[in-house]
Amino acid sequence: MYVCLCRGITDNQIRKAVQAGKTEFKQLKQSLEVGTQCGKCVRMAMEIIAAEVDKM
Ligand code: FES
Repeated sequence: MYVCLCRGITDNQIRKAVQAGKTEFKQLKQSLEVGTQCGKCVRMAMEIIAAEVDKM
């Protein structure tokens, strides 16, 4: 599912990035550019990060 419509970023892309060590939103923002336009996706992206980190 798309999390960031502005940048076309899916939840799977975010999960994979977290698994690869990008556990901070700032890191995801730099690598995937998630949340760099309207910002509406930031909250959901952070929830996905937190859920993924919890599984680690
Ligand atoms: Fe992610 Fe707009 S939906 S920046």
